[in-house]
Amino acid sequence: MAKIRIRGFVATGLLVIQTIFLLVLYSRQNIHYSDTDGKEKVHLLILSSWRSGSSFVGQIFSQHPDVFYMMEPAWHVWVTMFQNSAKVLHMAVRDLVRSVFLCDMSVFDSYMPKEKDVSSLFQWAVSRALCTVPACKSFPRDEITSELACKTLCGKYPFDNVKQACNLYSHVVIKEVRFFDLKVLYPLLTDPSLNLKILHLVRDPRAVAKSREQSRKALTRDNGIVLNTNGTKVDDIKFEVIQEICRSHVQIYETAAFKAPSFLKNRYMLVRYEDVVRDPLREISEMYKFAELKLTNKLEKWIYNITHGQSSGNKKEAFTITSRNAVNVSQAWRYVLPFEKVKTIQDVCKGAMNMLGYQLVDSEAEQKDLNMEVVLPRKQYQFSWS
Ligand SMILES: *[C@@H]1O[C@H](CO)[C@@H](O)[C@H](O)[C@H]1NC(C)=O
Ligand SMILES: *[C@@H]1O[C@H](CO)[C@@H](O)[C@H](O)[C@H]1NC(C)=O
Ligand SMILES: *[C@@H]1O[C@H](CO)[C@@H](O)[C@H](O)[C@H]1NC(C)=O
Repeated sequence: MAKIRIRGFVATGLLVIQTIFLLVLYSRQNIHYSDTDGKEKVHLLILSSWRSGSSFVGQIFSQHPDVFYMMEPAWHVWVTMFQNSAKVLHMAVRDLVRSVFLCDMSVFDSYMPKEKDVSSLFQWAVSRALCTVPACKSFPRDEITSELACKTLCGKYPFDNVKQACNLYSHVVIKEVRFFDLKVLYPLLTDPSLNLKILHLVRDPRAVAKSREQSRKALTRDNGIVLNTNGTKVDDIKFEVIQEICRSHVQIYETAAFKAPSFLKNRYMLVRYEDVVRDPLREISEMYKFAELKLTNKLEKWIYNITHGQSSGNKKEAFTITSRNAVNVSQAWRYVLPFEKVKTIQDVCKGAMNMLGYQLVDSEAEQKDLNMEVVLPRKQYQFSWS
């Protein structure tokens, strides 16, 4: 009798221990993706390429008070391992992005000196979350921050503040130009500790080419990595990098639109920069909706300001993220690029342009005739263009 009772006691005890263990396990898992409201955290990747308006779109997210934003964290991977190819670096980039989404900033230890502070991060000052409380005591969390003011006041805080700030936010948004293949991201899409959404931002390759010519020097190291030159810097005079970028846009869009595995459902959105420039508020509202963010009154006013060439005080800064006449600027390639170059770009990017709704021009006359529309209207929001 006594024996049996003891056994029952032990069994009950074991059951209790097991239950506690499972509960602990379950709650630990939840810590990763729940904010204080118990709502699932959102991880948004802005997938784009150089000179495609991604800094502007990044700002749209960065300034939202629910967003922890990081611009190009994988820059550190590329700079450290510049003799490798983009393909070889894909996995290190993916691993870094995953860690940042989970606010595990120890991943930067591989790429930074031991003594580091917030300003060791590439482009840290464009992140409102790193310029406000608790990362930096100078500005409240819901302030629209300016890169310049932030740079002077917020750089010297301990690197640990990055993680501390990140943990507070319901949304973590990362902008990257260093992915060239959607399949590389599949493990993140199926990772139960992540709730990943992908915003694929594209721009007319002719406008990209014009913009790239203006920042030629700054792009040579990245070009070398894209073209796998073993660390040699290259100028993209033959438009081989543009070709690779166009190829990757086709691969990403085609995969998401026509061959999407079920785990991509409702997790991919394509945005053309030209549409954002033409009707910022509509496009931004759609992007926020996709990311499960609310457009506040204050943000709406700020968006009006920056798309009409004024920021609170600093005109120059408004200009760096958009333009007083953005629609005109997005057509600037039409007066600036020689037709021969336009033809070459169209040749290497034909597939992407057809797919994304960018009309080819057949002559210099067509190129210069601004009455000829080269950005075809989008038919439906997501997957089909006229
Ligand atoms: C790459 O560059 C390094 C140093 O510049 C050199 O030692 C190495 O042999 C090169 N590798 C190839 C495959 O060319
Ligand atoms: C918008 O611009 C006006 C005029 O420059 C300024 O007073 C206001 O503070 C700005 N609002 C936002 C939210 O940036
Ligand atoms: C657009 O820019 C071009 C070249 O800079 C200029 O000639 C043209 O007048 C501008 N158009 C508008 C509507 O501002």
